[in-house]
Amino acid sequence: MLWSKTLETGIPKIDEQHQELFRQADFLLDRSKADKVEATLKFLKDYVAKHFFDEEAFHRASQYPKAEPHKQLHVEFSGGLKKQLEEYFKATNKSASILTINSMVTGWLRDHIMRHDKEFATYYIQKQQR
Ligand SMILES: [Fe+2]
Repeated sequence: MLWSKTLETGIPKIDEQHQELFRQADFLLDRSKADKVEATLKFLKDYVAKHFFDEEAFHRASQYPKAEPHKQLHVEFSGGLKKQLEEYFKATNKSASILTINSMVTGWLRDHIMRHDKEFATYYIQKQQR
């Protein structure tokens, strides 16, 4: 499992969704679920959109000053993911494409959580305590 405690933001809803994203990205590599790859990709794409929507709702509700640049990062990632999924459907080497998608999602998530979601969570939790 690629999730670790160090990725926790302290906002339960966001942490649960992050864990689900890692879980879904993991499914892609599970050979016993090979017949479900396309369904998993679709779920992943929809779940990413749902997760960003929910996270941005947290930003708005707490008047997060960095909401706009943070949202831009979500938009860029969604665009990149969409491109990778299109590549998958065109690819002759599907397993290489799956590996690319898995490392793109998990790599981006880890970096994004550590640098941006945690920064927001610190702001959010402090604001709740005021
Ligand atoms: Fe985020």
